Amino acid sequence: MTTALSVNNVTVRFAGLVAVSDVSLDIEAATVCSMIGPNGAGKTTLFNAITGFVTPSEGSVKFNGIELAGRKTHAIAKAGVRRTFQGGGLFGDMTVLENVLCGMQGTLGTGFLGTLLGFPSARRAEREAVDRAMLLLDDMQLASHADRLVSELPFGLQRQVDITRALAARAELIMLDEPAVGLSVADCDRLAEVLRQVTSRGVTVLMIEHNMNLVMQASDKVAVLNYGQLLATGTPAQIRSNESVLEAYLG
Ligand SMILES: Nc1ncnc2c1ncn2[C@@H]1O[C@H](COP(=O)(O)OP(=O)(O)O)[C@@H](O)[C@H]1O
Ligand SMILES: [Mg+2]
Repeated sequence: MTTALSVNNVTVRFAGLVAVSDVSLDIEAATVCSMIGPNGAGKTTLFNAITGFVTPSEGSVKFNGIELAGRKTHAIAKAGVRRTFQGGGLFGDMTVLENVLCGMQGTLGTGFLGTLLGFPSARRAEREAVDRAMLLLDDMQLASHADRLVSELPFGLQRQVDITRALAARAELIMLDEPAVGLSVADCDRLAEVLRQVTSRGVTVLMIEHNMNLVMQASDKVAVLNYGQLLATGTPAQIRSNESVLEAYLG
């Protein structure tokens, strides 16, 4: 097992308030880790500290051995860390395929200008990009939806497109903030399958989630935050039977 993400003694303070307090957490490559905890526990702040939206007051965050703490969001994204946002960030008036192609944009050799000017090399690159996007959509069982507008898809499929776009962008760590919000039980089961597909590609997942059905089903590891501190980590079964977790949260 190799550690993909290593959070070491991270503390985040906001004007006297300690939102995250001395948290250390390792996540193995190609596994799913879920962060749970009551509102105000510091989950989003820890996410922000990993993705560069806030700078940790103390501690280090290493991804594949590279220090992320203190680096800019785009540098962190370039290191392979992708975050999906609640409510998407998908382009609703574009098709599924076009959204996935947008994810690939930064990974292609030629820019929009070359395509506009009709360079043969750009056209070839575009064809290859479409082929690669369709292969990926096929793997994610979304190929039959490729030409549908994202805004016309049910929530569950939109969530899957969002994850697929992150894969298209060659994400190595995908961070999901409450992906189960608004999903039916069947959608959650499908999402758990999608996450298994993601980890089978060698990609690591860290998610904030309140939906225990999804957390227990999809996680290799669960980390419980409470008042900014890491209360417990363990397998879903260990967390379910942990006394202090039951008291603080699941109770
Ligand atoms: N930008 C900010 N400025 C000041 N306080 C913040 C900021 N962001 C979060 N907090 C505070 O930090 C604590 C943790 O919040 P948050 O990380 O959003 O918790 P969670 O996501 O677990 O609900 C809360 O007390 C919240 O009010
Ligand atoms: Mg939050």
